[in-house]
Amino acid sequence: MNAYPLPPPIAPPLWLLAELTYKCPLHCVFCYNPLNYAENQHELTTAQWVDVMQQARRLGAAQLGFSGGEPLQRDDLEALVAEGCRLGYYTNLITSGIGLTEPRIARLKEAGLDHIQLSFQDSTKEMNDFLSSTKTFDLKMRVAGLIKQYDYPMVLNVVLHRYNLDHVGRIIEMADAMGVEYLELANTQYYGWGLANRAQLLPDREQLLRAEAVVNDYRARLGHKMRVLFVVPDYFEQRPKACMNGWGSVFLGVAPDGSALPCHAAKSLPGIAFPNVTQHSLQHIWYDSDAFNKYRGDAWMKEPCRSCPDKQKDFGGCRCQALALTGDAANADPVCDKSPYHGDVQSIVARAQSQAGGPKTEKPILFRTDANSRQFG
Ligand code: FES
Repeated sequence: MNAYPLPPPIAPPLWLLAELTYKCPLHCVFCYNPLNYAENQHELTTAQWVDVMQQARRLGAAQLGFSGGEPLQRDDLEALVAEGCRLGYYTNLITSGIGLTEPRIARLKEAGLDHIQLSFQDSTKEMNDFLSSTKTFDLKMRVAGLIKQYDYPMVLNVVLHRYNLDHVGRIIEMADAMGVEYLELANTQYYGWGLANRAQLLPDREQLLRAEAVVNDYRARLGHKMRVLFVVPDYFEQRPKACMNGWGSVFLGVAPDGSALPCHAAKSLPGIAFPNVTQHSLQHIWYDSDAFNKYRGDAWMKEPCRSCPDKQKDFGGCRCQALALTGDAANADPVCDKSPYHGDVQSIVARAQSQAGGPKTEKPILFRTDANSRQFG
């Protein structure tokens, strides 16, 4: 008999996220794309993406998201959607809406696209256009109309932060007027450009509580008409989120250049060679690569995670956040109050608190532009 328990078998990936391109007409200040994205403009070809989709489907993936950057920047999007549908995926387009003209949405419908998630930056034209550094509010409104016209479920995503949390009631009213069925109010996650702008974007606790109370009030009034999801920024929590449901557990992301990633922000982790789909099969990448095995299971964990009764529930939180806030991705996510670094998170929150109602900070906000990105190359 084996004296050591065998590790549990690795389950297949369920969700393939195809980040088709880093090109994007918007310049959002909370974008999770890598800061140095402009360094690497290489993109997989249509045939390479088709191969990735086929391999992932054979492994067992059932859900296929197209994101970016802005996936509509790729003129083969319709062909990729058609192939995804032919393979039996549930397909989802995650878009700013820019580029979604009527001929395109008609072609995507024809190709079999199941779902569109449209993002807005705010309920006001001024703030929407400021945060994306574009004049796109009216265009997005027209796209919302097209999504309804083409009989898609209306799914709206608005990223929240200090600049727009006080508008949350108006955002819900805007969504209601648009006929939104599912509204995702997701507080900024502090990765990539969001992390670079954290001092500007992080709200204070009172602002957050006010916004949550408004959301709960609208929920009670709207009943089943619209589902409203409100995700609290995890800096304000005592326990970390189960990021990606565990590293290498369900999520397989492929960056524009073909790097396979266990999470959206993984490229920020130093010292890991993320395998590329042009050099390795997805079977090898998912089951055998060092990158996907690095934080699977619990053998990699240090204390306090190693002996924590919640380790199978939260998997020690987020590796990228642990790196960003403690300098070591193998540490417990310091959002957890058992982490010796939790005080650092509380200090960051306290700094936001001390600026409540005042100027956002001296530091100018950093827009996601190619020129700004090159500074991080
Ligand atoms: Fe990378 Fe959480 S975003 S592990």
